[in-house]
Amino acid sequence: MKTKAAVAFAAGKPLEICEVDLEGPKAGEVLVELKATGVCHTDAFTLSGDDPEGAFPAILGHEGAGVVVDVGPGVRSLKKGDTVIPLYTPECRECDYCLHPKTNLCQSIRTTQGQGVMPDGSSRFSLDGTPIRHYMGCSTFSNYTVLPEIALAKIRSDAPLDKVCYIGCGVTTGVGAVIFDAKVEPGSRVVVFGLGGIGLNVIQAARMVGARQIVGVDINPEKVALAKQFGMTDFINPKEVEDVVEAIVDITHGGADYTFECIGNVNTMRQALESCHKGWGESVIIGVAGAGQEISTRPFQLVTGRVWRGSAFGGARGRTDVPTIVDWYMEGRINIDDLITHTMPLENINEAFDLMHAGKSIRSVVLY
Ligand code: APR
Repeated sequence: MKTKAAVAFAAGKPLEICEVDLEGPKAGEVLVELKATGVCHTDAFTLSGDDPEGAFPAILGHEGAGVVVDVGPGVRSLKKGDTVIPLYTPECRECDYCLHPKTNLCQSIRTTQGQGVMPDGSSRFSLDGTPIRHYMGCSTFSNYTVLPEIALAKIRSDAPLDKVCYIGCGVTTGVGAVIFDAKVEPGSRVVVFGLGGIGLNVIQAARMVGARQIVGVDINPEKVALAKQFGMTDFINPKEVEDVVEAIVDITHGGADYTFECIGNVNTMRQALESCHKGWGESVIIGVAGAGQEISTRPFQLVTGRVWRGSAFGGARGRTDVPTIVDWYMEGRINIDDLITHTMPLENINEAFDLMHAGKSIRSVVLY
């Protein structure tokens, strides 16, 4: 079949809208019609050419929601008409990782996914006979896409897809880091570095689990109003204090129980670790630092009980946990609507990247 897609032909170049060829689903695969897709920093990172796994031409996008149109042989858990969210972190429920209780990083199709192809080693997308790479196993910048069955979360059919698409990455990354990875307890003091799309989701999850104090740290004071609406209790602008770590230790009465780095800057990662409470404070890295960058601290910080860890896709097991997060949204327990600041048709997708780079959007969503 033919499908409309925004194709990345080369690093640093705007996406181009094309009619591309899409082969139908093979064994274990599912054809999905996307209804909406978010545009995330990771798409921009790959498009910039800095992603070591990135290669072109490719159809980017990994934060979508849609409906099953067709299933290949052997697909049992999904059928035509099901509402789904694509998962760049799949959940096969069989590999060593899925069977281990401490990780969500299913490895069953990791190698081929990184190569931009389906698990059988081939691409379903092509243009004039030339294969186009899949991206993060999702390629949601195409109106129709093919995914492995294990990379789709089946969600309730009454969820608005123009909103819950954001659960495909940003919401789950922030909310999950608090709930599934850090397991923040009620009464905790939480510090969030970076009040963008990820940080705001960390804040609303911290509020949801009953944190007593939620301190936001950002160099942009324009972020304060929305962060307060989402649950931030205190704000620190690093430009207005002499020493951020001291300011945090002071305001949290000795240090945070949990800190979350949602910027992707190795200096703020260090600050986040060192503003944790001695003896038990835990710092979670969510932000993605530039290729080749390294973190550092004095080892004594860890010897004296602080814990440094990271979180990918919020520690969520997609097929199991994503439907639950959709329920939280539908029950009004988390707010997504106010985070989607811009929408546009696929034809205008490059505007979403411009808005992101200008810091004007929290999240842009493309509507098909
Ligand atoms: N100190 C404090 N705040 C900072 C600093 C800094 N040195 N540098 C940037 N910020 C703030 C920005 O002002 C902005 O509000 O961090 C926030 C980052 O927000 P976004 O740009 O919206 O990024 P977001 O989508 O939240 O993603 C954050 O997570 O997924 C990764 O790749 C993504 O690394 C990025 C991070």
